Amino acid sequence: MVSNLFPPLARMIKVSVLGKEFDVPEKTTILRDLQFLFPWEISLGDFCWNNECGNCEVIFKTDGDGVLRRTRCCQYQICDGMRIVEVSKELHRCIKAKLEQT
Ligand code: FES
Repeated sequence: MVSNLFPPLARMIKVSVLGKEFDVPEKTTILRDLQFLFPWEISLGDFCWNNECGNCEVIFKTDGDGVLRRTRCCQYQICDGMRIVEVSKELHRCIKAKLEQT
């Protein structure tokens, strides 16, 4: 059986994570795209991927209205221009070191 973590890609989109810019696949969840950027770190993190643990919460803005929103990123689809401005303690623990290297 072939595992397909990412749906077929139409294009890459631009997002920022704690002030750093990245290109990520569109049409998937924020958490899946964080795994795209930080594969080992997210895969080894304490995430249920099923809207139960709450360890994936982020606060973000979009280009549209600039309003801050909180969501569980395993459940929310990423969009072009999204700016993730705060992440949960677990996400921060997972990506901090790699993020500082970029
Ligand atoms: S990973 Fe558990 S709620 Fe999102």
